[in-house]
Amino acid sequence: MSRLAISGGTPVRSTPYPDWPSLDEADVDAVTAILRGGQVGGFPEPGPKAAEFAAGFAAYQGAAHGIVMANGTVTMEVALKALGVGWGDEVIVPALTFAATPYAAIASGALPVFVDVEPERWTIDPDLVEAAVTPRTRAIMPVHLGQQMADMDRIMEIARRHDLFVVEDCAHAHGQRWRDQGAGCIGDFGSFSHQSTKILTAGEGGTLTTQDEALARRAHSLIDCGRPKDAAETEYTFGANYRLGELACALLVNGLHRFPAQQELRSRLGEHFETLAAGVPGVTIKRRDPRITRWSFYRYIFEIDPEAFAGATNEQVAEALEAEGVPAEVQYPPMSRYDLFQPSLSRLPVAVEYADRLDPAKMSFPVAEAAGERTAVYLNERIFRSDEAGVEHAVEAIAKVQRLAAEIPAVTAA
Ligand SMILES: Cc1ncc(COP(=O)(O)O)c(C=O)c1O
Repeated sequence: MSRLAISGGTPVRSTPYPDWPSLDEADVDAVTAILRGGQVGGFPEPGPKAAEFAAGFAAYQGAAHGIVMANGTVTMEVALKALGVGWGDEVIVPALTFAATPYAAIASGALPVFVDVEPERWTIDPDLVEAAVTPRTRAIMPVHLGQQMADMDRIMEIARRHDLFVVEDCAHAHGQRWRDQGAGCIGDFGSFSHQSTKILTAGEGGTLTTQDEALARRAHSLIDCGRPKDAAETEYTFGANYRLGELACALLVNGLHRFPAQQELRSRLGEHFETLAAGVPGVTIKRRDPRITRWSFYRYIFEIDPEAFAGATNEQVAEALEAEGVPAEVQYPPMSRYDLFQPSLSRLPVAVEYADRLDPAKMSFPVAEAAGERTAVYLNERIFRSDEAGVEHAVEAIAKVQRLAAEIPAVTAA
């Protein structure tokens, strides 16, 4: 009888999935051309490659403007600052995301107010957003997590009713569309990461998208030490250096050329995965919202029932899948467990002022906590850039791990 690879058996897949980032000779040429040319850095801002990428990416997503900067964390900080969010304000953030989302609120001077996510898709729960609005609330930051998008219809309706800004965290959502509007083009700003694991990458980098020319100008100014971006302006405004160098922007231009074909492949193989994985005992495939009209994702997240996996946690299942040759992980603990918000571990400068609001002992997010600590397994997008057989191996590995979960060493030891 077969054994799990994590306990000495033969892995389901021995061929590696395609690498990421997928760079080629065109990238070597593009970087060489920058080195031989005039401008290597990001000043004057935007550089030629920054401008070329920003225009192309904004058009692909459906935004009027794109502003390229150092990463997908400062993008969100700049968005909030450009919107005038600051000291004493509150920004509503989901309890299941990367630390960068609440960090950006803190960096703008505001207090991140966490709310739980919806069980159907693990994105911010609109009912809880509504309940969290206070007279100090200025913005909502939905995160389009994994293969899902937050319910943008409800978020925008709540934002309009309470006169709030919306900054979409699209670090996972390059290419996604909701009712034919691109992710990042529905709220006031969309924030994209180009960090090395992300699906449109230059190693580091970030882009803000917006439909509003004045906001775009302010964002350009904020990332360029406050320099005026309008002939009518003569004074420097508030800002710092968050520019991205031209070497990275040249890689982004090339990455964007390759992106549409990758998106189509990922989406086709994602559908194949959903059809097959839905039949695996103990696995729940979350419903893909029909309002997602172009599908793209950075991680595919599915749910396990630990009972059906011999009591194994998501972390243990991900390790067993890795051993089977299927790249899997658990990305985010719930916000109530993040070190950033543990008073004993964190150096959060606002901890004293906001201690009562950011005390994890007072936070309870049952859905995010169950997902982060027990049930959410993240599959790497590399699986979805292989082929049908690659996806079938992933499903076979999940079914094998489920069948033999009692063999996972950590489960045996428990
Ligand atoms: C949901 C989310 N938001 C924001 C970020 C921050 O992006 P960056 O690493 O480019 O700062 C990431 C990724 O790291 C992320 O996963």
